[in-house]
Amino acid sequence: MNNKVLKEEVDKYLNEYFNGKTGYNKKIYESMSYSLNAGGKRVRPLLLLASYGIYNDNYEEVIDVAAAIEMIHTYSLIHDDLPCMDNDDLRRGRPTNHKVFGYSIALLAGDGLLNEAMNIMFNYCTGKSEEALKACSIISKAASSNGMIGGQVVDILSEGKKISEDELRYMHKKKTGELIKAAIVSGAILGKAPSHELELLAQYGDKLGLAFQIKDDILDVVGDTKIMGKKSKSDLENDKCTYVTLYGIDKCKAICEELTEDCINIIDKIHGNTEYIKEITELLLKRKR
Ligand code: IPE
Ligand code: IPE
Ligand code: MG
Ligand code: MG
Ligand code: MG
Repeated sequence: MNNKVLKEEVDKYLNEYFNGKTGYNKKIYESMSYSLNAGGKRVRPLLLLASYGIYNDNYEEVIDVAAAIEMIHTYSLIHDDLPCMDNDDLRRGRPTNHKVFGYSIALLAGDGLLNEAMNIMFNYCTGKSEEALKACSIISKAASSNGMIGGQVVDILSEGKKISEDELRYMHKKKTGELIKAAIVSGAILGKAPSHELELLAQYGDKLGLAFQIKDDILDVVGDTKIMGKKSKSDLENDKCTYVTLYGIDKCKAICEELTEDCINIIDKIHGNTEYIKEITELLLKRKR
């Protein structure tokens, strides 16, 4: 099993998830599926599977949890694009959810995906070990008000302002870093990683999550709308405070490289099959979307 095959498995799971759902509320399934299956990179589920995969190769055991985390992420994108947030028209190469389904349904599709993720995780935990509960609780915490939402709050409140380095770091670690770290840590917990390696993977997750958002800020400035499937210069238009506005492109590139190097060094201390998690780490630094 490699990352390409695992991505196909995640795509298949998510593609089929809402199949056959009908009723007066059918529109919500269409709307959720539209964004969920628009061609995201699946970074978070792949990280969860790669982290679990260090210790186990039966990925089918945890694919539900991997899918749940992608639903949470997709919900955050639908809401992030709304006119009251970043007001973006393009996402994953398609018109944003609200452009197709309207504001009300887009809002509800976000809520629906978040709740569906919780349903998946509760079902997953039923009758399972303590590890399952721990892993899913880390994911739900990562999405909470002192996690992803906390970061989004600081992002919104700091539009048009200059914020301190400390606040910027908080914003990035929370709005993006938390869910990425949660994917890694929860995967390792489900794989029954020894506690000292769990600690190492948590440090790795912190660094990778921060690097991921800094790279996102860089791409916002230098990236190509066609390749990214979302509009470049969105941060500039919204007068966002980002790593690029504070440090400039060159310093940001250097920080990303340094964080990635730290990540690889941490991974090298871990025993087990680290090939796939290493591959993702390197791809994320080089990514153009
Ligand atoms: C974009 O996430 C939003 C951030 C949290 C930076 P991704 O870059 O993972 O977007 P998709 O899932 O591939 O569309
Ligand atoms: C998004 O950050 C973070 C979350 C959705 C939680 P951005 O606003 O920078 O993400 P993009 O650039 O729109 O994908
Ligand atoms: Mg945003
Ligand atoms: Mg945005
Ligand atoms: Mg961005």
